[in-house]
Amino acid sequence: MSIVEIRKSGALHGEIEVPGDKSISHRSVMLGAIAEGETRAEHFLMSADCLSTISCFRQLGIQVDVDRQGDAVTIHGKGLHGLKPSGETLYTGNSGTTTRILSGILAGQDFTSTVNGDESIQTRPMGRIMAPLTQMGACVVSLRGNDCTPLTITGGNLHGIDYLSPVASAQVKSCVLLAGLYADRPTSVTEPSLSRNHTELMLNGFGAKVSSSGHEGAWKASVEPEPVLFGRHIVVPGDISSAAYFIAAALIVPGSEVLVKNVGINPTRAGLLKVVKDMGGDVTIVSEYDRGGEKAADLLVRSSSLHGTKIGGEIIPTLIDEIPVIAVLAAYAEGTTVITDAKELKVKESDRIATVTENLTAMGADVTPQDDGMIIRGGHPLHAADVDSHKDHRIAMSLAAAALAAEKSTAGTECTRIKDADCVLISYPGFYEDLRSLCL
Ligand code: S3P
Repeated sequence: MSIVEIRKSGALHGEIEVPGDKSISHRSVMLGAIAEGETRAEHFLMSADCLSTISCFRQLGIQVDVDRQGDAVTIHGKGLHGLKPSGETLYTGNSGTTTRILSGILAGQDFTSTVNGDESIQTRPMGRIMAPLTQMGACVVSLRGNDCTPLTITGGNLHGIDYLSPVASAQVKSCVLLAGLYADRPTSVTEPSLSRNHTELMLNGFGAKVSSSGHEGAWKASVEPEPVLFGRHIVVPGDISSAAYFIAAALIVPGSEVLVKNVGINPTRAGLLKVVKDMGGDVTIVSEYDRGGEKAADLLVRSSSLHGTKIGGEIIPTLIDEIPVIAVLAAYAEGTTVITDAKELKVKESDRIATVTENLTAMGADVTPQDDGMIIRGGHPLHAADVDSHKDHRIAMSLAAAALAAEKSTAGTECTRIKDADCVLISYPGFYEDLRSLCL
């Protein structure tokens, strides 16, 4: 068990560049593996989750060269039909993205694979991918019969389907679209709100034919089968989900001014920026650039007096991973924030409705959990406390941001102590050092 202690900070100042986007890093390895030739991904996220993806593809016979100093990977692709069966279980660690999206590719292979991950992965719902992959003709079995991993997947001879997904999930959408590359006719996925579209953008960049259309309540992405994919050069933008902790910390610690550089602002990911604006937060885009079809920007953040807001509906998938840190902002804001339509929080790395409520309440916030979100009544000063990440990286980092503005407790505790703080390795190995570098 690792504990990190964080005390109230003076104003945050300086510049920070966050590591590469986790979703895009995973996808660059996956698509690179099934493309012809070499794919090089720079500013690749060298975190535990992405390393799980790399190790699974190595097990499937793909050479992946990792340059840790240069934050770059080179994937020696073998084409759509070049993967080899692995004699061992493919171990996906803590990564839902690896588990679900990889399963789509495995469904297209005419061999059997077994996929499993850590304790947390073994409780996360896989029925959502088992259903469409089975409809396509793959044989997917949950070995414990609980719709969780371990899964065995026997693929090949897939039929294209038009899948109506009950959840807005990029992992489900990507799983089905990648299986669709191996089908006998086009495959489409329609989801109730538009989830992140990195797979669609990257597939098109590699030479596949993906089209997207939609309107409120029905967003459709379709893919043509059997494309020839060509390896390419990718520069991964910084991860807005990682930038979110610095944005929040700078907003809530008085007198702060921080430049967060190279943040991916793909509109299907950037809901946080809209919410921060709605709350009265001072975040300015100072420059904007293109990273191979993905937009990125430098963001100047100044501390602000925040007020409560309502967050629900179609914006939710665009900020789903940022809700824990948005809850922190809401706790420091005046007035009430109501978050709805976010039931998905219950099936993330932890039940984030429960873990946010437990920890922010321990710090003195007024949080009422709801079945699909939470109500946070701001304006109660937060204080240092012993908190528990529940081994969920986004909970640990959100609490670290909250701790920077937390007062001494009535019992005289000055430091917030975060239990199992090293879970940040999942998405941001240097997180605490980077946070400290901005604190006076
Ligand atoms: C991800 C999709 C989201 C997100 C996760 C990464 C992806 O999950 O929460 O951290 O890379 O596709 P869902 O697809 O379950 O919403």
